[in-house]
Amino acid sequence: MKEVTLDIPVTADLAVLWRDDRLYLLDQRLLPRREVFIECSDAATTAAAIRAMVVRGAPAIGIAAAYGVVLAARQRFAQDAAGWRPALEDDLRVLAESRPTAVNLFWAIARMRELLATLHEANPVPALLAEAVAIHQRDLADNRRMGELGASLITGPTAVITHCNTGGLATGGWGTALGVIRSAHAQGRIDTVYADETRPWLQGARLTAWELVRDGIPVKLMADGAAAARMAAGGISWVIVGSDRIAANGDVANKIGTYGLAVAARYHGVRFMVAAPTSTIDMGAADGRAIPIEERPAEEVLQCGGQRIAADGAGAWNPVFDVTPANLVDAIVTERGIIERPDRARLAAHMGAA
Ligand code: MRU
Repeated sequence: MKEVTLDIPVTADLAVLWRDDRLYLLDQRLLPRREVFIECSDAATTAAAIRAMVVRGAPAIGIAAAYGVVLAARQRFAQDAAGWRPALEDDLRVLAESRPTAVNLFWAIARMRELLATLHEANPVPALLAEAVAIHQRDLADNRRMGELGASLITGPTAVITHCNTGGLATGGWGTALGVIRSAHAQGRIDTVYADETRPWLQGARLTAWELVRDGIPVKLMADGAAAARMAAGGISWVIVGSDRIAANGDVANKIGTYGLAVAARYHGVRFMVAAPTSTIDMGAADGRAIPIEERPAEEVLQCGGQRIAADGAGAWNPVFDVTPANLVDAIVTERGIIERPDRARLAAHMGAA
């Protein structure tokens, strides 16, 4: 992968950067210690960057893939101006195979494919680029809207718990759950954020803490196993998380550990909010059992920071997402509104109301 340092201040909304007709992905594997980008030149390098976690977070993966389609179209058109379409189909497949759980990836590729079907001009690149930029900008606008809606549910000042990273780094900017937290903090409704460190990739410790400290929002990291004890200690009114895919009945797939948080929250009378754009809702998945859960290499659990920590000979189970049943969710917040106590009928009404 081609690492580059750009002469610009690095901010959380630069996870995916299209600049001077090039695609740069902020290398989130290295944050917060190093602020460098990976330059992607085609579908294969974009897919490899997604798989390797250079860019991660459901909406950011979708946005990166949309620009990946632009890169692929540019390459294929340059190679064969008359017969580029079949090769581009191969590229779409490569992008779609990068990670399985975040439905925003497939949603973004489907949008690009739908546009492609309508393109009759010789060069598809300008129209595809306009579509990728629209997907990117729409995500940022959706997050701002979700921030306002989600914040309206929070009576504060209070402390909240969040999991993984759902901020600008995981999206087109502002964030989903972290967008709600940003908006609620700006309104004085949230005073402290307890962030799970989020083993094994430590998205909470490395990324969420980086974003919140930069914004001046008080953040305390916890080992993932500390969350239930923190709820028992009092002062937490909401757990706020994002999602990689929400099924038609309201079951929510999100970073491994989310399900346990929801169980603990219900036990302690803490409310549980999921903030996700409608591009994360998969009405084709009847319930959580239909959501493919990514399993990643055992080494991610057996090591920490590249150092082996587990006893020699130990194996590991490394599913990187889990499914929280809809009946443990108090509210799903999308850019269209709030679904309280989500179920199949409420999801259908919400999605049908487009
Ligand atoms: O494995 P990751 O880092 O891509 O997982 C990300 C999450 O689980 C986020 O909570 C989810 O994508 C929602 S982010 C807006």
